[in-house]
Amino acid sequence: MRILGIETSCDETAIAVVKGHGERLLVEKNLVYSQVDEFAKLGGVVPEMAARLHLEKIMPLLEKAVGRNGRGIDVISVTVGPGLAPALRTGVEVAKTLAWVWKKPIVGVSHMEGHIAGAWLQSMQAPRFPGVHLLSRLRKATRPELPALCLLVSGGHTELVLMEAHTQFTRIGETIDDAAGEAFDKVAKMMGLPYPGGPQVAELAQAGNRQAYDFPRGLMQQEGYDFSFSGLKTALLYTLRDHEEQLEDPHFRADIAASFEEAVVDALARKTDRAIRDYQPKSVIVAGGVSANKELRKRFEQLVTKKHGIELFFPEFTYSLDNAAMIAGAGYFRYLKKGAVASVFNVAADPNYDLCKQN
Ligand code: KG4
Ligand code: ZN
Repeated sequence: MRILGIETSCDETAIAVVKGHGERLLVEKNLVYSQVDEFAKLGGVVPEMAARLHLEKIMPLLEKAVGRNGRGIDVISVTVGPGLAPALRTGVEVAKTLAWVWKKPIVGVSHMEGHIAGAWLQSMQAPRFPGVHLLSRLRKATRPELPALCLLVSGGHTELVLMEAHTQFTRIGETIDDAAGEAFDKVAKMMGLPYPGGPQVAELAQAGNRQAYDFPRGLMQQEGYDFSFSGLKTALLYTLRDHEEQLEDPHFRADIAASFEEAVVDALARKTDRAIRDYQPKSVIVAGGVSANKELRKRFEQLVTKKHGIELFFPEFTYSLDNAAMIAGAGYFRYLKKGAVASVFNVAADPNYDLCKQN
């Protein structure tokens, strides 16, 4: 089955084609037009402007990916939320129109369900040596076993979710204030780094001492699996204020970035550790933009694979950040389990769409 994915929830216009077969998702096309250059100048995303840019880019991307008549596409999958309302609406209306004109079934999916499905995506590589190609495919064939514990870490969300089956999720913890990605972005801004700040802070952190500053890890004494990053952000702000004369010193900046990254990764790892101990999942999936962070990946290898001896899954780096292949993937599993939405008129953008409340 071949699924067309459409994603416009924030500042990436993305179109993809994914082939689903059993538990396998093979990415045939993955086109992303990122608006970050536009918003770097402004220091953040402006929703109406994002929607206008989606409108400008979405048709050329669609034409490049699938032509004009949708031949070969079996199902259309589109992000209905969560995200920025004007931005979401662009993708949803385009998807509905295509479904109506092409007479194809349509499914609306959660952006977060998409991030999780990213762990199933496999790139289609051109075979250099057919035998080797086949072997690497076989080796990569393992997929997350369910139930899985999912740590979702993006610009808008930080949550621990139990995935009992495809389309079936229970939230066990979430941030009570900032999301982890948001904290990275805000800290970057405080340090004068451009939007989106996560990758910039991570890069700066590489040269720093991770123990230089002992920044707070929120809610560690409390029971449960919730997170808090606002105290960390404030502590960092005060440290910057107290060292005003060092703000341009590269060593100081690297130490601040490294200690901040360590505090975020440590908080995420410790709550995940607790959840693994209590829920005993068969695998752990870490997804969302912050899952591209290399230190987070290292720490989770230690925690999940070495300490608990269970399988750990990250999306391939290409599919960590927002893309439409993950939306096609989630749409595939949703279509298999629940079928299409009865009428295109029942698909609607919902900025607060909740992964755990959908049906
Ligand atoms: O999932 P995503 O692409 O968009 C949302 O759904 O929000 O995540 C974007 C977030 C941003 O906050 C960005 O700064 C963060 O992911 N991010 C990173 C890294 N790459 C992206 N944070 C830390 N380290 C990274 N390498
Ligand atoms: Zn995302």
